[in-house]
Amino acid sequence: MIILLTTFASALLYMSYGQDCNINYETLPQLGRRARNYAVAENEPMLFDEDLDNSKWYSVGQNNMPTNYSSLYIGNCGTYYPIWMNGSIPNEGDGAVYRTACIMSFSSSCSVKKIIQVRNCTTHMIYKLEPTTHTSAYCFDIKPAPSFKSAFAGVKYELVFIEETTVFGHMQIKKPNLIFFCAFNKSNDEDMFYTITW
Ligand SMILES: *[C@@H]1O[C@H](CO)[C@@H](O)[C@H](O)[C@H]1NC(C)=O
Ligand SMILES: *[C@@H]1O[C@H](CO)[C@@H](O)[C@H](O)[C@H]1NC(C)=O
Ligand SMILES: *[C@@H]1O[C@H](CO)[C@@H](O)[C@H](O)[C@H]1NC(C)=O
Ligand SMILES: *[C@@H]1O[C@H](CO)[C@@H](O)[C@H](O)[C@H]1NC(C)=O
Repeated sequence: MIILLTTFASALLYMSYGQDCNINYETLPQLGRRARNYAVAENEPMLFDEDLDNSKWYSVGQNNMPTNYSSLYIGNCGTYYPIWMNGSIPNEGDGAVYRTACIMSFSSSCSVKKIIQVRNCTTHMIYKLEPTTHTSAYCFDIKPAPSFKSAFAGVKYELVFIEETTVFGHMQIKKPNLIFFCAFNKSNDEDMFYTITW
């Protein structure tokens, strides 16, 4: 099992960006799963952005929302209905700009519009996003990580006994099961995300 630790440069470069960008922001949750080609595993929950807080700025590193829906499809970006941005990515000097984000559906590339704000802070982009419906999430084209570290993590195993009641009435049978755990300690750095392969 290999764990890739990837980090965005934004945390280290916090001091160097412009005065106007010197505001509180949080890392957008689940950024790595918002890539348009992200493959959702069986039983993995889909991403929905109904809980985003539209009073907060979210940092997305050097990544951006797709600005063209021509190669974006229903089911991409870890969600059912991906959201793209109909407008250009702002430059450094532009300050916070308003843009229209579009929820894609089967019938339209822009079935529902959300007004969002975007700001180019040189070292990273920040977005102010409206919460969406229970079936859609904001899509981001994730650039290859600028730095990563790979490490082997400990796989622990345990033999457990799961109780089962048989058809013969009151008899309890304890059925053996071997369980494997992938255990590793996460870093406190919120800009770090993990790719786990095993
Ligand atoms: C979207 O991308 C396609 C393929 O790259 C291109 O042909 C098209 O002109 C683009 N559309 C816009 C609105 O930029
Ligand atoms: C994107 O925005 C432009 C300019 O406002 C508009 O003409 C166009 O129809 C929009 N595209 C979609 C797919 O909504
Ligand atoms: C931010 O703006 C600069 C130009 O001012 C541009 O080169 C850069 O690509 C933009 N950042 C992103 C992540 O798009
Ligand atoms: C995680 O940290 C705890 C406390 O420092 C330690 O006991 C544990 O062994 C660590 N687990 C792994 C998988 O490194």
